[in-house]
Amino acid sequence: MTSTVLVTGGNRGIGLEMVKGFAKQGCKVLLGCREEDDGLKAKEDVVGADIQVIEIDLNDKQSLQDNVVRAQAVFGDIDVLVNNAGVLCEDNWERVSDDALKEAMQVHVHGPMAIIRHVLPAMIERNYGRIVNVSSGWGAFSEGMEGPPAYALSKAAMNALTLHLARKIDADNVKINAMSPGWVHTRMGGSDAPLTPEEGAETAIWLGLLDEDGPTGKFFRDKQLIEW
Ligand SMILES: NC(=O)c1ccc[n+]([C@@H]2O[C@H](COP(=O)([O-])OP(=O)(O)OC[C@H]3O[C@@H](n4cnc5c(N)ncnc54)[C@H](OP(=O)(O)O)[C@@H]3O)[C@@H](O)[C@H]2O)c1
Repeated sequence: MTSTVLVTGGNRGIGLEMVKGFAKQGCKVLLGCREEDDGLKAKEDVVGADIQVIEIDLNDKQSLQDNVVRAQAVFGDIDVLVNNAGVLCEDNWERVSDDALKEAMQVHVHGPMAIIRHVLPAMIERNYGRIVNVSSGWGAFSEGMEGPPAYALSKAAMNALTLHLARKIDADNVKINAMSPGWVHTRMGGSDAPLTPEEGAETAIWLGLLDEDGPTGKFFRDKQLIEW
């Protein structure tokens, strides 16, 4: 079976490497991006792959909903959803604005939840689906919630969403997990980061293609279980 995979924030950084990695595995990939031109440009150098560009702006509730519904109508049910898009506001608790907090919650929690609401019912009905939430060690209680507040709080909420849904989904072959890519050399991670975007994408691709006996409701880095 060819899986249809949607990756948000697929036009650059770790997300683009996920797009390429899933395509290499023979999946049909929906490259979600805010600007269609960025997505079209990003997929230019990927030859022989089935990659479709769809506009997904997690800040725009109506177009997000319309475009996910349209994508399902055109390309069929989504088997694998990777909630990868992310924003990093580095302001500390004294400086962080309400808008920055809201944006982080929108991109890391409300937006992913909106997409999940559209794709999960069909996954449950078919008893097949994989949802991968791209989180961060900076939002892990077990690692001290080290990130700046907008980022740490919203990634912790994304982790909570992962665990909550995994407990509530009554379909044993629908899996939802969170992962941290590690510190990756991208626009967000900066040039000192030790990992390549391709390395950062590996665990998400692995979780997206898990076997039926794979885990659900867990948190991973380097394909290893980590604590919330
Ligand atoms: N890099 C690291 O070291 C690191 C570490 C831990 C976790 N992560 C997580 O890994 C994921 C990918 O990060 P990255 O390093 O690849 O970051 P990146 O290079 O900055 O890329 C971020 C992606 O998210 C998209 N995005 C941002 N806001 C969006 C919105 N409102 N709607 C739709 N897309 C939006 C961006 O689109 P535009 O191009 O339109 O801006 C871009 O495609 C993020 O969730 C991040 O939190 C990264």
